Amino acid sequence: MEKVVNLCKRRGFIFPSAEIYGGFRSTYDYGPLGVLMLRNVKDAWWRSMVQLRDDVVGLDASILSTPRIWEASGHLASFTDPLVDCRKCKERWRADQISGVCPNCGSTDLTDARAFNMMFKTFVGPVEDESSVAYLRPETAQGMFVNFLNVVQTTRRRPPFGIAQVGKSFRNEITPGNFVFRTREFEQMELEYFVPPGDGPRWFEYWCNERMQWYSDLGMPADMLRLRHHDPDELSHYSSGTADVEFTYPWGWGELEGIAQRTDYDLRQHSDHSGVRLEYFDQASGERYLPHVVEPAAGATRTMMAFLLAAYDEDVVAGEARTVLRLHRRLAPYKVAVLPLSKKEPLVDLAKGVLHRLQAHWFCEYDETQSIGRRYRRQDEIGTPLAVTVDFESLDDQAVTVRDRDTTEQVRVPIDKLVDEVRDRLAL
Ligand code: GAP
Repeated sequence: MEKVVNLCKRRGFIFPSAEIYGGFRSTYDYGPLGVLMLRNVKDAWWRSMVQLRDDVVGLDASILSTPRIWEASGHLASFTDPLVDCRKCKERWRADQISGVCPNCGSTDLTDARAFNMMFKTFVGPVEDESSVAYLRPETAQGMFVNFLNVVQTTRRRPPFGIAQVGKSFRNEITPGNFVFRTREFEQMELEYFVPPGDGPRWFEYWCNERMQWYSDLGMPADMLRLRHHDPDELSHYSSGTADVEFTYPWGWGELEGIAQRTDYDLRQHSDHSGVRLEYFDQASGERYLPHVVEPAAGATRTMMAFLLAAYDEDVVAGEARTVLRLHRRLAPYKVAVLPLSKKEPLVDLAKGVLHRLQAHWFCEYDETQSIGRRYRRQDEIGTPLAVTVDFESLDDQAVTVRDRDTTEQVRVPIDKLVDEVRDRLAL
């Protein structure tokens, strides 16, 4: 974990936020490489969950909205953690995580547990009174439920169909930590899949399989992933059955994604609270019903961290130790690095030409400083799948050397065929 956290800082994946002011309460900023990788994680999810399907459409709902949504969803009443204070050292803990002893000072003199609502409260408009209270959304899901009729009417979808959304969510976590595993501001990738009543269990099983396959297709090793079904006493207030996709973090197995059968809970609650029936009318059968929902809900930032942890490796190449991120090609921040053997003309000119050809298709890195061995190591460390070396021979034969990150094998490729070669090798 420490090695990955250091690498993230040193190479520009993830920085502690506001570091020049001493940081700010487990918030993080995604640097030049992190912003690319996080976007790749979200794009891979969007591609699999929306683009390649004919039964899912996308949505981007507002983060601020009426508190009535959270009243209806149950978040105002139930989205709480049990909180205790240590009377001796004044630290605050989640009661369910400490078994009666303060982890800071060892005291057992703790207050009774109180319910602490995890939603961030703010005020909309210039007056800070009860009528202007609003909350930052703690999940993206509710945006899909309150837009159910809009989507049905505008897209003429019929169950089974889904609405997908990727975006920021906020939770005032009492114990954030383990790097970006648990933060107060994070990104989610959620699908609400609406099905006819009675079909929930079948689709739940389907989505459990689909989601496990997604991680595996992106190179997550099978022995680092498992599906764990929740015991009845673990279920959220809206769920009739939940399974977690779990990842083996350095501290043990933990949640990566939750897949829940939300039944018709949300559509029913919003129908009751808004007075608008969020039903589906099946014209063929003349039937009117509240669809049930199966929800695969993943965290984009947490998923990015899991892929980084799974990809981190150290090996020895030609007698030299290296760090290598064995990231899937789709997730790697840069797909290709262009490395001229000299910083001088006319090689730089040729190398820049090669870079511009490749940049039209993929994010590329250009690096002309230090020895070529060092530059390879630098690219290995950030997971760049391919490196293209432009050498003096390139001036004569108009060809370059393509090196593979994982095998370190090198092949000579004519510049004219380079884009095709890279495309074949990336196979995106
Ligand atoms: N709509 C259902 C829902 O939000 P959840 O299990 O609370 O379910 C889904 O959240 C996913 O969002 C989690 O599996 C996790 O990946 C991510 N997530 C939740 N809270 C998080 C936090 N505080 N920091 C980072 N990621 C978080």
